[in-house]
Amino acid sequence: MSSDVVNTKRAKANAAGPYGKVGQALNELDDRLGVAKGGRTFMDKIFPDHWSFMLGEIVLYSFVVLLVTGVFLTLYYIPSTALVTYHGSYLPLDGQRVTEAFASSVNLSFAVRAGLLMRQMHHWACDIFIGAMVVHMARIFFTGAFRKPRELNWTIGTTLLILAIVNGFLGYSLPDDLVSGTGIRIAFSIVLSIPFVGSYLGFFVFGGNFPGATVIPRFYILHVLIVPALILGLVGAHLFLLVRQKHTQFPGKGRTEKNVVGTPMFPVFMAKTTGFLLMVSGVIALLGAFAQINPIWQFGPYEASRISYAVQPDWYMGFLDGALRIWPSWSFHSFGHTIPFEVFIPAVVLPGIIFNIAYAWPAIERHFTKDNEMHNLLDRPSNRPKRTAAGVAVLALLSTLFIASSTDVMANFFHLPLTEVLWGMRILVILSPFVAYPITWKICKEVQAVKGGGKRKTTNVVTRTAEGEYVATAAPVYVDDAHSELEATPVPRFIIEEPDEQDESGVRTAER
Ligand code: HEM
Repeated sequence: MSSDVVNTKRAKANAAGPYGKVGQALNELDDRLGVAKGGRTFMDKIFPDHWSFMLGEIVLYSFVVLLVTGVFLTLYYIPSTALVTYHGSYLPLDGQRVTEAFASSVNLSFAVRAGLLMRQMHHWACDIFIGAMVVHMARIFFTGAFRKPRELNWTIGTTLLILAIVNGFLGYSLPDDLVSGTGIRIAFSIVLSIPFVGSYLGFFVFGGNFPGATVIPRFYILHVLIVPALILGLVGAHLFLLVRQKHTQFPGKGRTEKNVVGTPMFPVFMAKTTGFLLMVSGVIALLGAFAQINPIWQFGPYEASRISYAVQPDWYMGFLDGALRIWPSWSFHSFGHTIPFEVFIPAVVLPGIIFNIAYAWPAIERHFTKDNEMHNLLDRPSNRPKRTAAGVAVLALLSTLFIASSTDVMANFFHLPLTEVLWGMRILVILSPFVAYPITWKICKEVQAVKGGGKRKTTNVVTRTAEGEYVATAAPVYVDDAHSELEATPVPRFIIEEPDEQDESGVRTAER
């Protein structure tokens, strides 16, 4: 249609007034921007619905809270290691020589209106952000959502997880309290442990020997600018790919590899997701208001000669802390060089192996299964016993390493010598993946067997009659096709008998 015809049509429609004033203004705007057509397509995007798809949204919305509260904190925090005498409203610290970074963080907590709430919300949002990301990653892994064509999004996701952990560490290093200073010292030792280049790298990153005066300003720029910008860019790419490739869906009636069944972006998904944004922010605000986190005034300022007891790093650093604690003190001395394996292996090699396996997993699986098909329908974890068992084994290893990060507390609590606790944790950490793998594999096989190898199985359902009598009746549980359980317990809203039609609850089916 020529632009003259379109203009004449629109002018007539405007004259007749079917759009109203707002509609006319929007038409005028679209004449200039030309985004209505693309916007319509976007608004019509179909989102399949499942509770586990909300995990990615929790990650996204806690990131929004992180950005908003983080901007507030930058208005008051001073990234400087210059020494000042503290004379703020927290009297136990009065007269102490502390860094400006520490003093400004304590002032943020006690002297700035809503400052403590913002600090605590920021910290909680970070813990939830990374926690939800790990659970989101687990759902992608166990359902096989990383398979072709979504390998690139899996890679972006793994990078996001690493960046988030790094940024969390940088953030809790900033207040320069006893816990964060200890963490920075550990980080410096980890960099130093890298064979041959460690000392050069350490001096380069820290601008000289530990602690130096540049580390806090450098960490600050990385924490508030560089890493968040990288995360923001990668989140954009992640969501772009998600919309472009369309979401996976769980198998069920009417759902195929070639369609996507769910609710449209506007109004259904948008209304739900906006509600979810408010809920996630609300929960973080409640935690920030009522659950104390990182009370730096109790830890006190960092002093190299002091060390804290019973203070763990944030949870996502726990596995590293645990690995460092339990690794035997082996080191290599020769040719005038020392390689401290007791630091290098647990803190560099181990996370290196874990994250490289994560990056390579889609390729590893493709190599063994020879499956190069496109997958839009998700797996049930029990239908993939080896993958599920491997995932649980890694989670078991990481969880026992996490527990090992509290060896001092356990020794005190159980009145045991620290070395015994260390040995106990070493054995547990080694055993955990080897125990978790076969147990999970067996459970998956059992679940598959329960499905009955193609036969309809029954179970007894006990019902109580109006007279109070209990009656046992046989009811079908599974029909064994690949997705039997979903068919046995359908969510009626989702089921579309006629493709490309919309049911009364707004659920639609679209071709991929
Ligand atoms: C800043 C971090 C992240 C954000 C904000 C984020 C956000 C999201 C959202 C909102 C979705 C759609 C809803 C859902 O499926 O849950 C999604 C899907 C996806 N995410 Fe993430 N995610 C992040 C990190 C990760 C990580 C760590 C991985 C895995 C290594 C990952 C892999 C994927 C994949 C493969 C999909 C497509 C899933 C499908 O279509 O079923 N993401 N992400």
